[in-house]
Amino acid sequence: MKKLTIPDIIKRKGGEKLTVLTAYDASFARLLDAAGIDILLVGDSLGNVLLGYESTVPVTMEEMLHHARAVRRGSSAAFVVADMPFLSYQISVEDAVRNAGRFYKEAGSDAVKLEGGTEVCPAVRAIVRAGMAVMGHIGLTPQTAANLGGYKAQGKDADSARRLLADARDLAEAGVFAIVMECIPDRLAKVITESVGVPTIGIGAGPDCDGQVLVTHDLLGMFEKFVPRFVKGYANLAPQIRQAVTGFKQEVQAGSFPDAAHSFTMQLDVDSLINDRE
Ligand code: KIV
Repeated sequence: MKKLTIPDIIKRKGGEKLTVLTAYDASFARLLDAAGIDILLVGDSLGNVLLGYESTVPVTMEEMLHHARAVRRGSSAAFVVADMPFLSYQISVEDAVRNAGRFYKEAGSDAVKLEGGTEVCPAVRAIVRAGMAVMGHIGLTPQTAANLGGYKAQGKDADSARRLLADARDLAEAGVFAIVMECIPDRLAKVITESVGVPTIGIGAGPDCDGQVLVTHDLLGMFEKFVPRFVKGYANLAPQIRQAVTGFKQEVQAGSFPDAAHSFTMQLDVDSLINDRE
């Protein structure tokens, strides 16, 4: 499969749906890349899923870079987008450009994603002007979920729906190449999708977006702490993982692992080695 370019991604608007999944390490990146997933998102959701934080707020630039580098090493055809963590783009436009540049220079990322609407457009414009690509993210924005009243659907009343539409238009005008829309009503997602010239990528935003994204650990049934309503489990691996490691523990304790098939045999006469030492 040929790696997508930004113009290729924009051309997919209204056409073949874009598939986006999170990847946090090289082994998953290799699997998703081989399955033909278009875009791998090094999401700051790794804070919850991998690092055990209660939210994405504590995730640092160094943590994101560490995982973005691993995903780059594991992928060949997939387009890799790295999430800019909380406070890496809000303090100043200079900071935003510098931190976006670190994903390009130190992790080989193809684009960065940042959360927010009209208020982040100056940062988006500056990053794009510096020659980098930006994916937007509106609706439920986990880094500022506390200000939104928690992890709940957005844009359910006329005022906030209007606000989200304006956010999407402003982001498109500022130069994003795609917009993630998280947890918004399906009809609003359709209106926004029809109102902007760049692809929309839905997560809990209904079927009328130009693409869909999920957290891979959710899709595989590996993260049981919290499963949002919009998640569809395409596998249920957590019980299988528990069963496998319980099997290992039982066999080790019973002395049945490792057996001859999983051990190395020696042609030498071991007794003679012991005698040689004496
Ligand atoms: O961090 C993340 O995984 C995300 C997706 C849920 C879109 O931003």
